[in-house]
Amino acid sequence: TPVPVVAIDGPSASGKGTVGARVAEALGWHHLDSGTLYRLTALSAIRRGVDLGDAAALSALAAALPARFDGGRVLLGDEDVSDEIREEACSVGASRVAVLPAVRDALFGRQRDFRQGPGLVAEGRDMGSTIFPDAQVKVFLTASAEARAERRYKQLIEKGLPAKLESLMQDLRERDARDAARSVAPLQQQPDAVLLDTTSMDVDAAVAFVLDLVRDRG
Ligand code: C5P
Repeated sequence: TPVPVVAIDGPSASGKGTVGARVAEALGWHHLDSGTLYRLTALSAIRRGVDLGDAAALSALAAALPARFDGGRVLLGDEDVSDEIREEACSVGASRVAVLPAVRDALFGRQRDFRQGPGLVAEGRDMGSTIFPDAQVKVFLTASAEARAERRYKQLIEKGLPAKLESLMQDLRERDARDAARSVAPLQQQPDAVLLDTTSMDVDAAVAFVLDLVRDRG
């Protein structure tokens, strides 16, 4: 039997990252936050002065990313870039490089490699549609734009990073529009995905909901 996958897709700041990590921990499964790969590609490009529209250069960068994941930290080579990839420049950059089919192709195999026993919890925009179409459990995790902007705002403030609620909201809307409108792997709820709206739900409840789905299908 194939290694089981829980695919969690949804818009920016919907809580996928936190929920995915907690579900993976509870199950003792591997965890893939696929957005980090797009963020790392953007970060490498920005640092090297590569144009964020240059598909050939960006796909070469994506294919050769010296990315490592270590206990929740994200490393590029030996450097811990966990905080830097969360900054707005990388968020916006990630959603720009993600529209390029060559970049998505370059990251395809790397994502599929995370599927290892006893199981994988993978989150992003196209986990259920493109990367793991045969996932046992597919969840479309969302929340209102206001709720998502407020969560992101709190996260940034807690980390001592600069944040403005108004511009976060504006930025989320632009990224949502770009993710939903692109021709390759657009963000959309799959027909076989279960909708989980966390606008007025806390993390514990969302985690419990997903774990119940896994048990039901197990
Ligand atoms: O999930 P996160 O906000 O970290 O993703 C950053 C960006 O990477 C998203 O705005 C989206 O454009 C892109 N992305 C994607 N496909 C994925 C994960 C992320 O296109 N599976």
